[in-house]
Amino acid sequence: MTTRELNDFLTQTGPGTPMGDLFRRYWIPALMSDEIPEPDCPPVRVKVMSERLLAFRDTEGRVGVMDEFCAHRGVSLWFGRNEENGLRCPYHGWKYDVTGQCVEVPSEPVESGFCKKIKLTSYPCVELGDVVWIYMGPPELTPPLPEFEWARVPRSHRYVSKRTQDCNYLQAMEGGIDSAHVSFLHRHDLRSDPLHVGKGAELTRGTDARFEVVETDGGMTIGVRRPASPGQLYWRVTQWIMPFHSMIPPYGDNALNGHAWVPIDDENCMSWCFTHRPTRPLSDAELDTMRNGGGIHVNLIPGTFRPVINKDNDYLIDRAAQKADKTYCGVKGIAMQDAAIQESMGPIQDRSLENLVSTDNGVIMARVRLRKAALAVREGAPPDGLDPATHKVRSASLVLPENVSFFEAAKGALTAREGVEQTSV
Ligand code: FES
Ligand SMILES: [Fe+2]
Repeated sequence: MTTRELNDFLTQTGPGTPMGDLFRRYWIPALMSDEIPEPDCPPVRVKVMSERLLAFRDTEGRVGVMDEFCAHRGVSLWFGRNEENGLRCPYHGWKYDVTGQCVEVPSEPVESGFCKKIKLTSYPCVELGDVVWIYMGPPELTPPLPEFEWARVPRSHRYVSKRTQDCNYLQAMEGGIDSAHVSFLHRHDLRSDPLHVGKGAELTRGTDARFEVVETDGGMTIGVRRPASPGQLYWRVTQWIMPFHSMIPPYGDNALNGHAWVPIDDENCMSWCFTHRPTRPLSDAELDTMRNGGGIHVNLIPGTFRPVINKDNDYLIDRAAQKADKTYCGVKGIAMQDAAIQESMGPIQDRSLENLVSTDNGVIMARVRLRKAALAVREGAPPDGLDPATHKVRSASLVLPENVSFFEAAKGALTAREGVEQTSV
């Protein structure tokens, strides 16, 4: 049972919290590279785990992610002038480089060396897979760079989007590893969404789903089986990698999909959505569908990362479509169905009130694993999922004979192998 105390423990990620300290040990997707597309472009605000940050690209093309506010009197540097390798506060002209070091205080004589003493908190960053990742933990514990397959394939093989979600990261992430809901919530879209249709989608409509969870070095592999033909089982295998990455089992000839559920603060999160093909570029039709809010991606209000369909317009719920079995819950689109359902639990779900069943095993194990890791970090032990080898996994969907261990039989399919296509039915 998840007590209120444990719920707080798992959902709070601000500075100094146990879960916040755990998450700060990993490289974290902070913004998309094309939010700061060129040298000296406008800076953008980024909030990660309750820290208000600012990202900018300097004249040399270097990226900086640092405290949003000027060290002088606290003006937001979002108003700053991005010029000559630094960001200048428009109030009194203090200037900072990409490391947060103050390099000019116009009111003070250069000889005084005053500006050398001023430095904003800043975080190391790296661009990988069209994403700017930041590391917010102790410098001496910086882990190796991430090796997720989606981030390492050529750009043409990948599509990345992100959207804000008005709820805590944990309930969003729990949706990502709860394969049981697919047979209900997305039931009708499995037939209509062009990036989901296929034989697997038909089998997934079967509601008799049984879970088997295998703990791995980096997280968990969650196998869900449904009856296929006599003597055969249809397996959908989800990967969860510490602390907030999930990979959705693919359908038919469609590409692989995954998420990172990154806390913005305790009541909001960024849902990062990644689609990739291991061996070939995404087709124009696929890209078109995704850009128009298909698959796991959504349409956004221009200039923001807020979905067009959102809490304020009741997710444009269409009761007639629900009644006519065009959508199961009345909300259009797979991703927004998830978001709507997850946000409806409240900004932070009160888990002390829930009644869990066997199909919640993945969710239960993830909570146990996160708690254990956060406690271990307090004791000085390194958490799981730092080793990039643990990132090189894939989700898969496959049909196996009844009497075999899915984890053993699908080992190859569950490994990211260069030049080898995904396993999907
Ligand atoms: S507040 Fe930024 S220079 Fe004064
Ligand atoms: Fe879903």
